[in-house]
Amino acid sequence: MTKRFNVAVIGCGIGRSHIKEGYRTHPDLFEVRALCDLDPARLAAVADEFGIKRRTASFTEVLAMDDVDIVDICTPPATHKGMILDALASGRHVICEKPLVGSLKEIDEIIDAETRARGRLMPIFQYRYGDGAMQAKRIIAAGIAGKAYVGTAETLWKRTADYYDNPWRGRWKSELGGVLMTHAIHMHDLVTFLLGPVDRVFARTATRVNAIEVEDCVSLSLAMASGAFVSATATLGSQDEISRLRLAFENVTFESAHEAYSPGDGPWTILPANEAVAAEIAACLADWTPVGRRFEGQMAAFHAALVAGAPPPVTTADARRSLELVTAVYHSADTKADVLLPIGAGHEKYASWLPDA
Ligand SMILES: NC(=O)c1ccc[n+]([C@@H]2O[C@H](COP(=O)([O-])OP(=O)(O)OC[C@H]3O[C@@H](n4cnc5c(N)ncnc54)[C@H](O)[C@@H]3O)[C@@H](O)[C@H]2O)c1
Repeated sequence: MTKRFNVAVIGCGIGRSHIKEGYRTHPDLFEVRALCDLDPARLAAVADEFGIKRRTASFTEVLAMDDVDIVDICTPPATHKGMILDALASGRHVICEKPLVGSLKEIDEIIDAETRARGRLMPIFQYRYGDGAMQAKRIIAAGIAGKAYVGTAETLWKRTADYYDNPWRGRWKSELGGVLMTHAIHMHDLVTFLLGPVDRVFARTATRVNAIEVEDCVSLSLAMASGAFVSATATLGSQDEISRLRLAFENVTFESAHEAYSPGDGPWTILPANEAVAAEIAACLADWTPVGRRFEGQMAAFHAALVAGAPPPVTTADARRSLELVTAVYHSADTKADVLLPIGAGHEKYASWLPDA
């Protein structure tokens, strides 16, 4: 019989979706034992909805619960680092929402703590989880797609004043960034998941949609280490909401689903160069088993990794790569120049990309 892990979810915003999509869809793999939130009304509403008896406002109390195996952190970004370090130190496995932390220096501290920890740490990047994204990954990894030429990545969403009626949003200190960091981070993770590392970045950012501190429009030009070019745009001022990735390879062109919050869903448009490539793709996908979408897929993959003693399906190296791109984008926007990756401890934005750092 497979092991069932007991989970404590911290934060009842997106945490509610983790419970609904990620844990309740796998009652054989997970049980949500405890729920934690500072807001008593929200805590009661979500705990009642899912029949979770153990409720607390205290993260310290959660860490003292002997029967909790996994601490799932779904609180605002600026709280993540301390909670991750405390949860790892308590010997638990940890799941944490994006952005994992607020700088490359902080993620390097987390990676260092992870090497000494008993538990595993998995950052959330649930947009990878969908049959479309994972089939594209398999076709590319099998070498069928060939050379990557160009890609476009769009995060065209809408956010209005009511969304920013939440004290942590819209401010550098608490949100740590705008559309680049909070929203487009998913599509940019998909770009590197499918096309590999970024070599250099040129970026423009602006705040034009809402009356906030952080940016809400970005345009990026990426040169990938493979030689491919990617253009990425993101705004929170689009009238309809879509996320879209289109990738042109030597032998295959891929286009993602356009669902704003689940572009990884299948089927993707897969255009082979000829019948021989079509046959290779068919053979490559012949034994396809659905992966589960969004949190359903990512949490199941985490369970499988824990049981196998394998690295998590999304790693802190992935989170570092994502924050390295964020750092490069803000630096390019500031300096109006190309920024080369990788970014190490000697870089002026290594410790922080915040404007007043
Ligand atoms: N993966 C995704 O698609 C996705 C979507 C939305 C948000 N997020 C991320 O999830 C995180 C939370 O975002 P949200 O939209 O759910 O925010 P939110 O403000 O709606 O919810 C956060 C909750 O955390 C609680 N909280 C804050 N500090 C706490 C503490 N110290 N102890 C216990 N509870 C605490 C708040 O009371 C609040 O209910 C952010 O990092 C955000 O970027 C990810």
